[in-house]
Amino acid sequence: MKLLNNNNNSRYGKPSFCYKYFKWLLWFSLSFYFFASFLFNHKPNNSTSSFISKTTVHQYSNKVSRALIESVSLKHHQDSLNGLKIYIYELPSRYNTDWLSNERCSNHLFASEVAIHRALLKSDVRTFDPYEADFFLIPVYVSCNFSKVNGFPAIGHARKLISSAIELISLQFPYWNRSLGSDHVFVASHDFGSCFHTLEDVAMADGVPEFLRNSIILQTFGVKYDHPCQRAEHVVIPPYVSPEGVRKTLATSDVNGRRDIFAFFRGKMEVHPKNVSGRYYSKKVRTVILQKYGNDRRFYLRRHRFAGYQSEILRSTFCLCPLGWAPWSPRLVESVVLGCVPVIIANGIDLPFSSAVPWSEISLTVPEKDVGKLGSILEHVASTNLSTLQQKLWDPRITRALMFHDRTVDGDATWQVLHALSQKLKRSHRRSRVFSE
Ligand SMILES: *[C@@H]1O[C@H](CO)[C@@H](O)[C@H](O)[C@H]1NC(C)=O
Ligand SMILES: *[C@@H]1O[C@H](CO)[C@@H](O)[C@H](O)[C@H]1NC(C)=O
Ligand SMILES: *[C@@H]1O[C@H](CO)[C@@H](O)[C@H](O)[C@H]1NC(C)=O
Ligand SMILES: *[C@@H]1O[C@H](CO)[C@@H](O)[C@H](O)[C@H]1NC(C)=O
Repeated sequence: MKLLNNNNNSRYGKPSFCYKYFKWLLWFSLSFYFFASFLFNHKPNNSTSSFISKTTVHQYSNKVSRALIESVSLKHHQDSLNGLKIYIYELPSRYNTDWLSNERCSNHLFASEVAIHRALLKSDVRTFDPYEADFFLIPVYVSCNFSKVNGFPAIGHARKLISSAIELISLQFPYWNRSLGSDHVFVASHDFGSCFHTLEDVAMADGVPEFLRNSIILQTFGVKYDHPCQRAEHVVIPPYVSPEGVRKTLATSDVNGRRDIFAFFRGKMEVHPKNVSGRYYSKKVRTVILQKYGNDRRFYLRRHRFAGYQSEILRSTFCLCPLGWAPWSPRLVESVVLGCVPVIIANGIDLPFSSAVPWSEISLTVPEKDVGKLGSILEHVASTNLSTLQQKLWDPRITRALMFHDRTVDGDATWQVLHALSQKLKRSHRRSRVFSE
């Protein structure tokens, strides 16, 4: 249902030139990426090249796209990543791939633990020689034990699963003991990172388990103040949003670049939030949004799940990203990649990959205490610098930096992780040995 009709929304609805073609450019670049990576993953040889050998034109474009990807990735891996090398432990399948029998495991918001593993397996930075490695990835998937009651990931088993993986590799290999884990890398993609609990007070009380405190944690959780759940070397990463899902949204939505929704939010908003051991969901921010703007025609607010919500984001000018239990949410990524200005309402949040994503130029930050003034804040931006924000948001490099692909392309989210690791090479045992000689 459209809350604003075509006549009264001309201010928000009039697209700029870039903006009008945003969808098509994005669709094209994603399609190109999928096409190129398909070719790249299915290297034709003469006996099996039925897919490509039909015309010389296809052969030519195949060569061009492969050459493009190969040269680009080679160049970056050598130049910007300082020759970074990663060894990936091959753990028994109960630690990781067994969980993939549930299809959600590789698609839900915590799926970066799967995506990063997959991308690194196929990446140029992977080494099979542990003596050549700067870092060691321990690929344990802890977020795919979906509760039979509510469908949410039950992460109660996470500590046990990870510590048993560490035990296994520290018995079989010398590398963990050598550095006490400081050159070992884990992904902890759920609410409060390696604290492994969905409630912040419990997570804070439990803290990062002893056995992970020396290591490098890739985590979606990040705040700019001291917090027990980031007391380990860490890299803030974006939540997982399926590139295939985004591509489908772009291909199937009948939008023409016009954004007829002024401000959008779909998600849990409690009318009477419960006191959960002294804390309230979203610190009541979402409740205020509902109370204050529930009947405001500029705001399109929905409390129930809807599978097609990405098409609503595509129709929206501003997308609200209020905190839930944790400050981060996949809305941040979905808003950016679908061209809706994210309105971040989560005090102190530390956003991913700030060296690649100029967050202050593409999003708005509203202090939690000002959530009641959202209407006038957004009106002010709409009448002043909205088009500046939208134009910056359109930069395809930003979209690329926030999404994980099965095969990493330069500048994508896995590449950003590698780049961050390449800044931590002083933790590499191999480098310290080379330098001291
Ligand atoms: C999955 O979570 C449930 C609790 O929801 C737990 O009882 C079960 O042991 C977990 N499964 C594994 C393999 O750890
Ligand atoms: C690493 O240390 C643990 C605990 O001290 C020990 O049990 C294990 O044998 C050591 N691993 C190797 C490969 O020496
Ligand atoms: C919320 O619950 C905690 C205990 O769980 C209690 O100490 C606190 O007084 C409660 N707050 C309110 C406003 O009821
Ligand atoms: C847009 O305007 C808002 C409110 O005046 C300001 O906080 C923000 O920094 C501006 N952003 C850009 C990219 O100019």
